[in-house]
Amino acid sequence: MKKLGMVGWRGMVGSVLMQRMQEENDFALVESHFFSTSSAGGPGPKVGGKDTPPLKDANSIEALKAMDVIITCQGGDYTNEIYPKLRASGWDGYWIDAASALRMKDDAVIILDPVNRGVIDAALAQGVKNYIGGNCTNSILLMGVGGLFREGLVEWVSSMTYQAASGGGANHMRELLKGMGVINAAVAEELATPASAILDIDRKVAQSIRSDVPTEFFGAPLAGGLIPWIDSQLDNGQSKEEWKGQAEVNKILGNDKPIPVDGLCVRIGAMRCHSLALTLKLKRDLPLAEIESIIKSGNDWVKWVPNDKPVTVKELTPASITGGLKVGVGRVRKLNLGPEYVSAFVIGDQLLWGAAEPLRRMLRIVLG
Ligand code: HSE
Repeated sequence: MKKLGMVGWRGMVGSVLMQRMQEENDFALVESHFFSTSSAGGPGPKVGGKDTPPLKDANSIEALKAMDVIITCQGGDYTNEIYPKLRASGWDGYWIDAASALRMKDDAVIILDPVNRGVIDAALAQGVKNYIGGNCTNSILLMGVGGLFREGLVEWVSSMTYQAASGGGANHMRELLKGMGVINAAVAEELATPASAILDIDRKVAQSIRSDVPTEFFGAPLAGGLIPWIDSQLDNGQSKEEWKGQAEVNKILGNDKPIPVDGLCVRIGAMRCHSLALTLKLKRDLPLAEIESIIKSGNDWVKWVPNDKPVTVKELTPASITGGLKVGVGRVRKLNLGPEYVSAFVIGDQLLWGAAEPLRRMLRIVLG
C-alpha cells in the first residue's frame, strides 16, 4: 500500500479536501500519514475508520521522504521552502499541491482531469511527478465550457469574473460577514420602521461602508460593494489573477498555440461560488442547440441551465450551487456582435472543483 503524506489538511481547502476524501473513501486505498508544521507528535486523525500514526513534522525532509505521495494544501510559502529541499534530497514521489507556486513550471502539470486527463496521462507516462491544482476561476471556466475547447471551437474568450470571498481565504470570508453585520447594525432601527426614508438609510449605509466596514484582509470594503482588482498588479495593466487566465487555461489544455483568454477579475460579496460572464468567439456559426449539446457533453458535472428567467434565477446562483460539485452553465445565447459570438454564465464552488477536488482525484489516478 502506498504511503500518503497529508500536509495542510486543517486549513480551509485542506478541510474541504479531508471531507471529500472521507466521503469517497480515498483513505482506504493508502497508508495515511498526517503532517503538521506546529503540533508534530500530537495524535493523528482517524480516517476511513482507521487510526493514523502521531502527526509528523511537516518541516522534516526525512519524514516527508518516506512518503510515496504528498498532498499539500499548506500554501505557496511552504511549497517554496520545502519542495526544493525534498527533491534535492533525492525524493522521487508524487507531489500534489493546491498552491500556485509550481503551477507554471515545465516539470509540473495543472490538474483538472475531467478536462485534461490526456495531458495528465501523457505526463505520467513521461515520468512527471508534480501535479498542481489550477487557479479556481480557470478550473471552473473549463469545467463549465470545456466541451467547446475540446471541440476546437473557441477562437478566444473574454472572461469577466465575479469571485467569492473564499478565494482570499477564511479570514476574508469572516471579514465579509462582519462587514454585512456592521452595515445592518448602522440602520437596524430605520429598517424596523417601514416609514423611515430610504435615502436617509442609504446615506447612513454609505457612511458605514466608507468608515466602519472592516478592510483588514481585503484592503477595501467588500460588504455592500465590490473590488475590481484581485491579486497583485502587473506591468501590463493586468492583475495577476487576470494574467493566470490565458497562461493556465492553455497549460491545462496542453495547447501549443495559445487561445487568447482575458478579462477583468472582480471580487464580490459571495461566500464560496466564483462566477464568470463569458463572451466566446467561436470559429464557426453553430446552431444554439449544437452549442448546448457540446457544453453538456463536457463532463458529468455540467449543470445546464436553460436561458429562461425563472430557472436561471433559481438554479444559476450561489444559493443553488454552493457546497456541491455541479458547475452551472447558463445564459447561453448569441450576442448582437455577430453569429459566432456567444455568451455564457458559469458558476461553481471554488473550494471544490476550484481547489480540493482535483487533488483527491489525482491521488486516485496515481494509485491507478
Ligand atoms: N486566486 C483566487 C481568488 C483563488 O482570489 O479568488 C484561488 O485560486
